[in-house]
Amino acid sequence: MRIFEEMESEVRGYVRAFPVIFDTAEGSLLYDEQGNRYIDFFAGAGTLNYGHSNPLIKKALIEYLQRDGIVHGLDKATVAKRAFLQKLRDTILTPRNLSFKVQFTGPTGTNAVETALKLARMVKRRSNIISFTDGYHGMTMGSLAVTGNYFYRDESYGARNNVAFMPYDGYFGPDVNTIDYLRRYLEDPSSGVDLPAAVIVETVQGEGGINVASVEWLQQLESLCRELDILLIIDDIQVGNGRTGTFFSFERAGIHPDMVTFSKSIGGGLPLAMLLLRPELDQWQPGEHTGTFRGNNLGFVAATECLGYWENQDLSEAVAYKGAIIQSELERIAEKFPELEPRVRGIGMVWGIELPQPNVASEAAQEAFQRGLVIETAGAEDQVLKFLPALVIDESLLREGLEIVEQSLAALAEKRQQVKFGRD
Ligand SMILES: Cc1ncc(COP(=O)(O)O)c(C=O)c1O
Repeated sequence: MRIFEEMESEVRGYVRAFPVIFDTAEGSLLYDEQGNRYIDFFAGAGTLNYGHSNPLIKKALIEYLQRDGIVHGLDKATVAKRAFLQKLRDTILTPRNLSFKVQFTGPTGTNAVETALKLARMVKRRSNIISFTDGYHGMTMGSLAVTGNYFYRDESYGARNNVAFMPYDGYFGPDVNTIDYLRRYLEDPSSGVDLPAAVIVETVQGEGGINVASVEWLQQLESLCRELDILLIIDDIQVGNGRTGTFFSFERAGIHPDMVTFSKSIGGGLPLAMLLLRPELDQWQPGEHTGTFRGNNLGFVAATECLGYWENQDLSEAVAYKGAIIQSELERIAEKFPELEPRVRGIGMVWGIELPQPNVASEAAQEAFQRGLVIETAGAEDQVLKFLPALVIDESLLREGLEIVEQSLAALAEKRQQVKFGRD
């Protein structure tokens, strides 16, 4: 580990939570260089929905490289890009009656978010954007400005211009409809909140702590946007690509956003990001928004394979089946440890157990790692243990991982009990 401590910036994060040197990975298993095995419930923060070293993706990439397929092409036309666009249109967009155009951005999620915010402001000629409490949209200046958590922001390195935060669904508890709240601000010319160019929202907040917006809330948000001529941007970077059971996470609400930011699992583990936009919003001049790594061809090759999973219902059904296992197991586990005050929430294959007492979720993740499970925390205070296994995980591995979670919480509950007795 010394080289990482010596050479790599203090900013490094996950290496501290999982202090081993990983070497190989396959499906939902990771191996360190000593050959120790770890079940992966983190899936690269939602990047590996199709698993590590997916055999279909691996085969296509090896073949492409072996025939000297072009790897870097700026935004030139390539065979790999054509195949991806055709597959996206035929497998995903047309069957869903979505007529989006596709803009390839720089390779990470935050590039897609920056592009969406810039385009919305340009088209509407308004600078304000509405974002939501606990929202997470990336680390570059524009995306950071619409990210809630103070930990990532510091007003000294960039004031958040032209962004207003509004309460997400459930922020004030179940009895307050936060769309009414938003409406009041937007309709009152004296509220201090200017009419925004766009609203940016996650249908399920991943980094924010697995907060699931209700269908009614999402529908009301869409209606409000239509009524007041505001663009609706869905950030589907973490919970798109089938995570909630449908390809796009907004499908369950039957809404049609104006733009969708998309990245993470679309590249099957390779960097690829894009903005999907209604054709009438495509008001760019040629080359007006550019970048060296817009759509890498290995990403396209991988992505075309990923989309193959959506040619039938099998993956959606598998997500429903395994999601139900996660839910029932987590609810059972939560009932077993009332002293930890656990609260379970989620949808599809994105779940969280909120453990509100200080440090409990982080300690649970550490206990789990010692038992061979890679699992992360989420939420403003890292108070949520976050379940994000690959969608293609085997049922037996899924159950094995959930058992480790149960053992980890049991160990924690016991430790707390001992501390309590020690004190009494
Ligand atoms: C919803 C959402 N938007 C944007 C991003 C930023 O993506 P990236 O880290 O690839 O820039 C993330 C990353 O976790 C995310 O979860």
